[in-house]
Amino acid sequence: MTQQPDANGPSRDDVPAGVPADVTAMLDRANRLGADPTVTNYGGGNTSCKVEVTHPATGEPATLLYVKGSGGDLGTLRFGGLAVLELARLRGLDDRYRGQEHEDEMVELFPWCAYGPGGAAPSIDTPMHGLVDRPHIDHLHPDSVIALAASADGERLTAECYGGRVAWIPWVRPGWELGRLHRRLLEENPQLEGVVLGGHGLTCWGASSDECEQRAFKLIGEAAEFIARTGRPEPLGPVRADRAPLPEAERRARAAALVPLLRRVASTDARMLGHYNDSEVVLDFLSREALDRLVPLGTSCPDHFLRTKVRPLLCDTAPDAPLEEVEQRLGELHAAYREEYRAYYERNAGPGTPPMRGADPAIVLVPGVGMFSFGRNKQTARVTGEFYVNAINVMRGAEAVSAYQPVDEAEKFRVEYWPLEEAKLQRMPKPKPLAGRVALVTGGASGIGRATCHALASQGACVVVADLDLAGAEALAKELGGPDVAVGVEMDVADEEAIKAGVAAGTLAFGGLDLVVNNAGLSKSAALEETSAQLWDLQHNVMPRGSFLVSREAAATMRRQGLGGDIVYIASKNAIAAGPKNIAYSSAKASQAHQVRLLAAELGEHGIRVNGINPDGVVRGSGIFSGGWGADRAKVYGVKEEQLGEFYAQRTLLKREILPEHVAEAVLALTDGSLEVTTGLLVPVDGGVPMGFLR
Ligand SMILES: NC(=O)c1ccc[n+]([C@@H]2O[C@H](COP(=O)([O-])OP(=O)(O)OC[C@H]3O[C@@H](n4cnc5c(N)ncnc54)[C@H](O)[C@@H]3O)[C@@H](O)[C@H]2O)c1
Ligand SMILES: [Zn+2]
Repeated sequence: MTQQPDANGPSRDDVPAGVPADVTAMLDRANRLGADPTVTNYGGGNTSCKVEVTHPATGEPATLLYVKGSGGDLGTLRFGGLAVLELARLRGLDDRYRGQEHEDEMVELFPWCAYGPGGAAPSIDTPMHGLVDRPHIDHLHPDSVIALAASADGERLTAECYGGRVAWIPWVRPGWELGRLHRRLLEENPQLEGVVLGGHGLTCWGASSDECEQRAFKLIGEAAEFIARTGRPEPLGPVRADRAPLPEAERRARAAALVPLLRRVASTDARMLGHYNDSEVVLDFLSREALDRLVPLGTSCPDHFLRTKVRPLLCDTAPDAPLEEVEQRLGELHAAYREEYRAYYERNAGPGTPPMRGADPAIVLVPGVGMFSFGRNKQTARVTGEFYVNAINVMRGAEAVSAYQPVDEAEKFRVEYWPLEEAKLQRMPKPKPLAGRVALVTGGASGIGRATCHALASQGACVVVADLDLAGAEALAKELGGPDVAVGVEMDVADEEAIKAGVAAGTLAFGGLDLVVNNAGLSKSAALEETSAQLWDLQHNVMPRGSFLVSREAAATMRRQGLGGDIVYIASKNAIAAGPKNIAYSSAKASQAHQVRLLAAELGEHGIRVNGINPDGVVRGSGIFSGGWGADRAKVYGVKEEQLGEFYAQRTLLKREILPEHVAEAVLALTDGSLEVTTGLLVPVDGGVPMGFLR
């Protein structure tokens, strides 16, 4: 049944005709539940419903289970994200169940219970939905309920909070056994409204989708209200004056200065991107006395600790300590963290455990400044931070009514190195060549810069579009996919302070900087005697001076990260070819071209490669050409302005018109690993112009 888009909710044009209305209602419910991260974390929890249909293959009635499939997210769940199973067949698997130690093998049998093509892959939580005999079921990870579930006396608190309407299951890993435990509790007490899962979350149900949803919100609200009513004030202890948050501007500047050092710490084993969070809840947590006691306990819910790692790294220097002191201390803390992680792995690993996945922290906490979370891409880095915010809420709630007590280390390890999780990681597609890299393109809002931003993003890079034109930069960032992919920053490369601020903002946005394209430029030609000092300065300030300053700033950041880097100059054929009436522009370009070699020579020892591109005659999309220069050139050559590109093409050896995309492709070739041992190179992208040949 296809429904009209609802002004108050998501459009349900994803549900094919003929699917029972309960499924649509369940999807709407999932989206509402998933909209609030305190109700369930990104990607966490699942919803389901059971519906009666006539099976097309037999003409007989059949009950189907529609349940969120593996890897989906409730907030954005669509019909295609549901697994569809024949309930009788799924329940029949109970006869094949050989006991808890063999429960992982059940997952391989789920696809054999599919209805028709089956939809998305069934998740490990499927038994919780299949074995419980209720039409609608929600399984969620709400902060307030996990606060009870991760308390030293969670069972007693659950009883006090819900007065027997909600049962308690001590920590059990998700799987068939957990489904069976739910089923048994409901058989014993059919009045039960739900279950609190120790160290994990909440499951509840209803006869209708509405009843299920209302109950979920009610049970979550009751837990929050119980904590507020019975909990002690200031559960995390008093604020420590030496950890009070720095004022906002100072804090942001400090965060930007720290980010390259922290990325180094997070990226020893694999290059990571970062996300910075200085929200009220984070800064408050970081300023409290309980910090030192709680941080080592790590997070609780399996979803949380899978992303946040077993525990964060806590930086213990003063919020305004000199950077050298922080760098040195971070080195020590990092070494200790890695040693501890290895020991944790070795303590817990058994014969079938997958190899260690990396011993760097995913969360770094800096009191007074904020939280830095890391992941292989920006979205993962951001979500990892969101999960730690969930964990903070959980710790605060648990400490208010009891003592925070997450599941023990051995269980965390079993989840972290669960063969089923490992299989999920192995199934992930190979990352794109520039995945995990942050690129900053000056003059990125137009022409060659714009095409370069598109090309870099298409190969997986996160892009900082830096331009005089902030509106243009922001519009392009949005077009490229929004804040997990690109951001726009205002930057006048003729202004040293603006460069510092723009590089800092870009670095903070993605947690690092790996690649810079010095592209900002303008072209004003004039004969020698008409070239004013002002015209000269204008072009030299933007091109040679601007790119020198951008390179200086970027190289400093790259060196602090210790991950190498790339600097690419968009110079020009005019850097080589001498034509008349172009003294200011062409000598500016020649300076840029020589900077390529100078900096290649200087930065090689830090793994920073510096290369350049010499384009010529890029008319289409170029603001330089459309801004009068093109009309002028067309007049000089006696052609129509719209034919100028073609005219230039005929002057080349290949007779090809040069497009912004050609230059962008050259940037990719220089940076995507194809030419990884090349530095100091200038690449002509000009269709072949002998005057521009390098000698
Ligand atoms: N178009 C060509 O034929 C050609 C040939 C060789 C070299 N180039 C070089 O390629 C680069 C890009 O040229 P294009 O044709 O794409 O030009 P364009 O005018 O389309 O784009 C230039 C961008 O740089 C920005 N910009 C200008 N001054 C700036 C400043 N001070 N700070 C920050 N941003 C600034 C502009 O806002 C614009 O978005 C320039 O360096 C140019 O010299 C162009
Ligand atoms: Zn769960």
